[in-house]
Amino acid sequence: MSVMELDRAEMAAAAEQQAPRLSIFRTLRFRLVLSVAIVHAVLMGAFVWSAVNKQSEAIRSELQNRAHSLITLMAVASTNALLAEDLGSLAEVTGRVKHLPDVIEGAILDVRGHVLASTDPHEVGHYLQVPRARTEIRGRHRLRLQEQIRVAGQRVGTVLLEMSTRHVQSELAATRDEGLLFILLALVVGSVAAWVLSLLITRNLHTLMAAVRRIGGGNLGVRVDLQARDEVGLLGNAFNTMAESLQRISEQVHSEHEKRTDAERLACVGELSASIAHEIRNPLSAVINSVKLLDRTDLPASDRAQSIAILNTESLRLQRILNDFLDFARIRESRLIEDDICALIGEVAGLIRQHPQAAAVTVEVECEVCPCPARYDPDQLRQVVWNLMLNAVQAMPDGGELQVRIVRRGRSVRISVTDNGCGIPDQLLDKIVRPFVTGRKQGTGLGLSIVQRILMQHGTTLSIVSHMNVGTEMSFELEVV
Ligand SMILES: Nc1ncnc2c1ncn2[C@@H]1O[C@H](COP(=O)(O)OP(=O)(O)OP(=O)(O)O)[C@@H](O)[C@H]1O
Ligand SMILES: [Mg+2]
Repeated sequence: MSVMELDRAEMAAAAEQQAPRLSIFRTLRFRLVLSVAIVHAVLMGAFVWSAVNKQSEAIRSELQNRAHSLITLMAVASTNALLAEDLGSLAEVTGRVKHLPDVIEGAILDVRGHVLASTDPHEVGHYLQVPRARTEIRGRHRLRLQEQIRVAGQRVGTVLLEMSTRHVQSELAATRDEGLLFILLALVVGSVAAWVLSLLITRNLHTLMAAVRRIGGGNLGVRVDLQARDEVGLLGNAFNTMAESLQRISEQVHSEHEKRTDAERLACVGELSASIAHEIRNPLSAVINSVKLLDRTDLPASDRAQSIAILNTESLRLQRILNDFLDFARIRESRLIEDDICALIGEVAGLIRQHPQAAAVTVEVECEVCPCPARYDPDQLRQVVWNLMLNAVQAMPDGGELQVRIVRRGRSVRISVTDNGCGIPDQLLDKIVRPFVTGRKQGTGLGLSIVQRILMQHGTTLSIVSHMNVGTEMSFELEVV
């Protein structure tokens, strides 16, 4: 099997890294092997049980037939000797029987149960109880038979024969052991076959799983070549078709997005240019007017001084607008590192306390868990926290309380800057993070746009809750380490 875009080792490594660990009992492989083992064990067990039963029946009946033939022969052979009371011939009959296989005992009795001849010489002359049944099984290993000797319908004697079933039992035990061995062998062979089969099936499935993960991770160029003609092969083809459609759609979406972002960028440039023009128009007009006035030779000294003052203030304002705009335009890519966020906020809070506008403001920092490591760009986050704190201070010209809270929330940390200042008017709230939107006379309206852009680069956004004359809370979340 081969995969076009990824070699197998890479796929296996990807699957290994990202696959959620399945318990062995839940894998297809285990279930397949278990099912095959159970089916094998049940079928082979039933087959062997039936075969052993049939064989034992056959062995038993063969022994019984042999015993019946033997006792009939003994009866026939001893009839004349019994009538003639020829004890020698009777002893010869039992003597011959004695050496036959499985024979334990054979005896010839007269009508009264008196033993005339026996394989056991000690029994001769004694009386023996004649069993009622023709055949009976005694204990685990003995078969006892009796045959009456009749002449013209008259009973003249009885032949007793006892045979051992031990040989039969051991033959049966050997057959049963053979059957069990067969079941075990079938189990092992079946399980190994199922294991190999499951390997063939799941190997393709694992390749598919790895490819699906790569697609999930954004690599839409992945295709699989399973070289299988079964359902998994069809699944692989369906996967390739799906991946091709996904790639085509993604390319279309991408090109649409490109077109739209180009248009949006142009619109944004237009909007920004309009905002900059609007921002610099007033100070520039003031500068031009002042220069014109200064050009007049008849200008009184007091007006001249006033014009110079206006020239100074407005050109400084122009410079500030230009610097702020450059800051906004020059925001670089974030370089995220893992560091303690509490330390950084403590440092900015120290600087803000020394700010001339914060003389009447109490600044408090509350850190729930300290230190609190998070992922951020230190320079950029310093600017974010500074802008938010400075805005809060500027919202409380007559003093107030500024609180910064750092609270852990599972995999993220929430940073909030709260003040009890003037609040943000509702009509400004929706557009407050846009460039050049300001509610302050000396403001440029770029502080929150910079904050929002930096936070977006950190994968988060600014949340604002504000109530007029009550206060404002600005917050955002960062990923914790
Ligand atoms: N904590 C706050 N309380 C009340 N109003 C706020 C607060 N933060 C921001 N604002 C309002 O949002 C406006 C925009 O803020 P932003 O920081 O973007 O610009 P700015 O402060 O006006 O100027 P600068 O570019 O110098 O920061 C502010 O002018 C102010 O009216
Ligand atoms: Mg500001």
